[in-house]
Amino acid sequence: MHQTLKLRDDWHPEMYTLITADQIAARVAELGVQISTVYQNRPLTVLGVLNGSVIFVADLMRSISVPHRVGFVQASSYRGATTEGGEIRIGTSLMPDLTGRDVLLVDDIFDTGRTIVRLQQELARAGPASIQTAVLLWKDGRSQVEITPDYHGFRIPNEFVIGYGLDYNDDYRHLPMIGVLEEEER
Ligand code: IMP
Ligand code: MG
Repeated sequence: MHQTLKLRDDWHPEMYTLITADQIAARVAELGVQISTVYQNRPLTVLGVLNGSVIFVADLMRSISVPHRVGFVQASSYRGATTEGGEIRIGTSLMPDLTGRDVLLVDDIFDTGRTIVRLQQELARAGPASIQTAVLLWKDGRSQVEITPDYHGFRIPNEFVIGYGLDYNDDYRHLPMIGVLEEEER
């Protein structure tokens, strides 16, 4: 017996919706078209960053119409809601062979950019033909690095966001929308 999970607007009293599930779906479809054009006739591997990218990867790969493989790499800089960086740990034990592959590195959010930069350095050692980056969200005014993502879904203000894979202390990843978790709840 199935029950529909009905999320109320007041799902969490201190959360408000920044980007709806419908808006996400429409934008992910557009990104899929753009990426499919770029990677025609290339050996594409979509490489998601665990855990935050899982929902984005699952939707994005279904909107990419060219043949491709999917794999994952782990990255964590454990810090809960405080978005100030600690040390970034990379886990490559689950990562597929990337030799000669055109890698699209996919993460949930580009905040300071330090995670993506560290991952790019690590991936470069795996002998890929190319590396590009795609993120669902790109936070304003936070970058500490020289690079920018090659593809992004939405620019967002400097707020702490949850849902669609993004967590606060590992909760809220399942929410279908992007929400802002207000200060007092963190
Ligand atoms: P960066 O290395 O500062 O770009 O941060 C990237 C990682 O920090 C993401 O993969 C997220 O796990 C986490 N992060 C940054 N901002 C947020 C946020 O607003 N909500 C949830 N996670 C965030
Ligand atoms: Mg993350």
